[in-house]
Amino acid sequence: MKERISGEITKVNELVASEINDVENIRIQYLGKKGLLNDLFAEFKVVPSDQKKEIGVLLNNLKIAIQNKIEALRESIVQVEESKSENEDLTKPATELQLGSRHPLSLVRNEIIDIFTRIGYVVEEGPEIEDDWHVFSALNFPPEHPARDMQDTFFIENREDGNHAVLRTHTSSVQVRTMETQKPPIRIIAPGRVFRNEAISARAHCIFHQIEGLYIDKGVSFADLKQNLLYFAKEMFGENTKIRLRPSYFPFTEPSAEMDISCNLCAGEGCNVCKGTGWLEIMGCGMVDPNVLEASGIDSKVYSGFAFGMGIERITMLKYNVKDLRLYFENDMRFLKQFTSVY
Ligand code: PHE
Repeated sequence: MKERISGEITKVNELVASEINDVENIRIQYLGKKGLLNDLFAEFKVVPSDQKKEIGVLLNNLKIAIQNKIEALRESIVQVEESKSENEDLTKPATELQLGSRHPLSLVRNEIIDIFTRIGYVVEEGPEIEDDWHVFSALNFPPEHPARDMQDTFFIENREDGNHAVLRTHTSSVQVRTMETQKPPIRIIAPGRVFRNEAISARAHCIFHQIEGLYIDKGVSFADLKQNLLYFAKEMFGENTKIRLRPSYFPFTEPSAEMDISCNLCAGEGCNVCKGTGWLEIMGCGMVDPNVLEASGIDSKVYSGFAFGMGIERITMLKYNVKDLRLYFENDMRFLKQFTSVY
């Protein structure tokens, strides 16, 4: 046994390793549970007692030799690694960092906000989980109005008093919240996400974004509405943009209108985007119905106002000629990377 242990000590001193993994293998081979050292210590138990002292010392020397060797090998490998990194070429060009860019919907939302804040509008926000009152009732929707139908609205929770919790279907709810808490003059825009139970296609999605506008003061007229929206259309789509207002219906505005802009692709000549009409519909608007003012505690004999609401996806489609709404939500880098603007 003596010779074997001495032989092992010599072997240990000759061990080499070039990688940290090799060192670990050596450790397992010698010091592991089923390693050489444990085997030798098991044999040591049956060594005749007159030899125990001498062999015991040898065995301990072997153990110390292995431990020292492992430590030395580890250190030398770490040193080699460090000197490698010192020799790196510091003048080499850095690997390219991919810069992110803003989402096209964010760019357009920011641009719309910028256009309206330049003429005195301030940004307001409201909750996405709303109640029936703020989404429908206070906005003059009759109880049986089809927009309350399950097919359009995501109902979150039925409440006994009928004021069910819903995901807001439009940002007009922020009009109500603002009129409930602020006194005129009110001049706000409210950007946000809205939800409708619709099948997803190139032209519709169950989640989309709107911007709402509301202006309440003494003597606000339809002419003010028209001028504000003309200003917006020119800023957004170019100085030569024309607008037209077509009569429409919303429960919360009277009179109501749909606003079209002259097609920015064919300048009104007629093309496949405007389907030959020369006009593109971009938003709903109208004079706030007196019932809506009263429901939120504003005296409709003293104050009047207008409201408008537009889809950010739609504006972005027209501005950047995006053909499929689903692209906004797929996070395909090839799509997202194309949009740059100061916003
Ligand atoms: N809330 C309407 C919609 O979602 C848009 C609108 C807002 C119309 C304000 C008139 C006034 O279609």
